[in-house]
Order: sequence, then C-alpha cells, then structure tokens
Amino acid sequence: MASVSFDNVTKVFDDKSGAIVAVEELDLTIQDGEFVVFVGPSGCGKSTTLRMLAGLETVTDGEIRLAGEPVNNVSPKDRDIAMVFQDYALYPHKTVRGNMGYGLKIGTDLSDEEIERRIQEAAEMMGIEDLLDKKPNSLSGGQQQRVATGRAIVQEPEVFLFDEPLSNLDAKLRKHMRTELARLHSELEITSIYVTHDQEEAMTMADRIVILNDGTLQQVGTPKEVYYRPTNQFVADFIGSPSMNFFDVELRENDDGSGEFVCEGHFSYGISESLCENIAQNTDDDEFQIGIRPENVRVDTNASDRKTIEAPVDVVEVVGSNNFIYLDLADRETCVSTSPEIEPDEGELIDLTFDESDLHVFEKDNGAAIVHGHDETNGTPEESKVEL
Ligand SMILES: Nc1ncnc2c1ncn2[C@@H]1O[C@H](COP(=O)(O)OP(=O)(O)O)[C@@H](O)[C@H]1O
Ligand SMILES: [Mg+2]
Repeated sequence: MASVSFDNVTKVFDDKSGAIVAVEELDLTIQDGEFVVFVGPSGCGKSTTLRMLAGLETVTDGEIRLAGEPVNNVSPKDRDIAMVFQDYALYPHKTVRGNMGYGLKIGTDLSDEEIERRIQEAAEMMGIEDLLDKKPNSLSGGQQQRVATGRAIVQEPEVFLFDEPLSNLDAKLRKHMRTELARLHSELEITSIYVTHDQEEAMTMADRIVILNDGTLQQVGTPKEVYYRPTNQFVADFIGSPSMNFFDVELRENDDGSGEFVCEGHFSYGISESLCENIAQNTDDDEFQIGIRPENVRVDTNASDRKTIEAPVDVVEVVGSNNFIYLDLADRETCVSTSPEIEPDEGELIDLTFDESDLHVFEKDNGAAIVHGHDETNGTPEESKVEL
C-alpha cells in the first residue's frame, strides 16, 4: 500500500482549437489505505488526473509521488497501480480466468500456481468462482464488472484506481456494487481513488471526497464536512440532492443588534445578533447569497413572523419516503423536502421556515462561503460517512 501525492500538478492538452487546461495546479495528498472519491461534473478533469497517476498521460507541470517517490518518469507497468474502467475492457476471446490472469502472465514472472491461487482468491472475493470458464459476452453487466475488478485485485497493487466503474449498471445493481466495493476496501485496505460524477455515490463511499470543477480543486473533506461546510457555492450546489436553494439578499441591521436578510420585493428573514456578529467578523459586505437545503426547510404556520416566508406551491413531487414541494419564491424554483403527509395544492400559499443554524452565507461576487449557521451550534461535525 502507498500514499499518493499530487504536487502542483497541471495538465494541458494541445488541441487543434488551442490549449485545454484539463487539470490546474492540483495539490492533494491521499493517505496510505484511504478511500478517496473524486467527484465533479463531466469534463472537470477527473479521468485526466487518474490517467496521469496511472502513467497513461504525461504530466505538463508539477510532480506526482507514489509512496513518497516521484513517478512522473516511471512507466505505467512499473507503477504498481491497477485500474478499473467504466467499459471493463475485457478480452472477448479469453475466459474469465484468462482475463484475470493475463496481466500477471505477461507482466510478471509469477508461477502458474501462484497466478491460479490469486485468481481463485479474487474470484471468491467477487463471488464469481462459477464463472471462471465462461467468456465475457455470456455474462451480465454486473458480472463483467466483477471480473474487471477481480482482474485488478489479482495484481495485488499498491493503489486501486476506479474510473466511473458502475456507470453502465442499472440503479439497483449500482447500489449493490457500491456496498461490495466498500467491503472490498475494508478487507484489503488498499489505497483507492474512485472517480464518479454522482455525488450520492461519493457521499456514501468516501473516507474523503475531492470535488473538482473546471480542472480546479474546490474542496477536500469528509462527506459530512463537504455537506455541512461547503467551501463555496459550487460545492454547496453540487453536494446534496435536491440541490441547495440560493437567494440574493441584503443584510439590514436592527437597533437591537439582530438583523434581517432581505430579498428585495420577495421576503425577509430575521437572524440573531450572534449570526450578525459572526458575519461582521468575516466581511464588510452587506450583500450576499444565502443558501438553505430543501431538507432544512419546514412547512410551519406557527413559526415567528420574522422567520416565516410565504410562497405559492408550484408542483408537489411524491417520491415515497418524502415529498418534494417546488415553490415559486423570489423568481426561482425553490425546493422543500417534507414528510409525505404534507401535500398542499398547486397554487396554495404556504408558510415556510427554517433554523438559522442551517443557513449558509456566501460572498455575492465569487460564491466563497463566509459563514455556516452550523459554525455556532454544532462545532465540527463528527468524522463519518453521511447516511443517505
Ligand atoms: N486526449 C485529450 N485531448 C484533448 N483534450 C482532452 C483529452 N482528454 C481530455 N481532454 C479534455 O480535458 C478536460 C478534462 O477531461 P476529463 O479528465 O476526461 O474529464 P472528466 O473525466 O472529469 O469527465 C475536458 O475538457 C476534455 O475535453
Ligand atoms: Mg472521465
């Protein structure tokens, strides 16, 4: 097993249309044995980062180290890294056994007995012992996925890389395979980097999440850290489903030290003196974007007037465990997640409220987080995975 570090790593592709900066000045250290998930929208540089680490792309600038040793100039076969891709890349004419053992046969001088032992062990781990003599085209997508993972396991690598390995599976199987891969990691404790564009996959699997956008690192943290303390509006919007609601507001201070977030022409929401002070300690601005997650808003007719916002219902989406109520608020579609028995009619005006401890306050211009309501109440959230 090994740690992995990216030290100021940049990748520029020279394309006919000009230079494309796929990864820009990435600084990141992954600890030995960690399960880290890279997440971000399509094209943000996830695969390029993995491919540089695997040695399949050159590094334009900066240094990548494996177990402390620079590997920029080490050939892929000498890096002791195994990669699992989205499209599995299995040889159609070889059996499952042949596919799993091929890399070891051509790339190592291991004895046939040792190779067979590793194949048996990996096949057991992945539950594919019965498939060893079959050809890939007679297997389901999920089985092919297991074979591809098994082929990585037999290498007994220092680092596993997974590039969207579950994208071709249906939703149910994807969830099942997530659990399997998590179990595999806790058994083998091999440093793993897992790439996905699916924030839910990232939240449920990762020890730490690395969020990328447009080639640049946005935030690194545990699932709870990125959920409760997004470093900017991009992360706040990307993590969590349905996405956080945002509003443009101005902060007006009252004589008693408390304040009002005023969304001009639409609503005002009263905040405490201590939240006002907290904001004032961090910025001189009085215009912000505030964010509140759908799951933190309540339909409540009994909240104090200064914490109540009224809005007309647009659509109610029933998803079973809860309802998503979409409202027309401040000219934006705003989402509230409620218990299933709350089912207002379309067009009905409803009263909404939320706790200021669930608010997130961002700079108006660049979206950087200024204050999280949780800062005052909860302290640092415990380090563990978020249950979704
Ligand atoms: N071989 C290549 N040549 C030119 N541009 C590339 C190449 N590979 C990736 N890119 C560009 O680099 C950016 C990052 O791509 P990629 O790492 O594949 O993103 P992701 O895996 O996050 O979807 C994209 O703009 C993509 O078009
Ligand atoms: Mg990709």
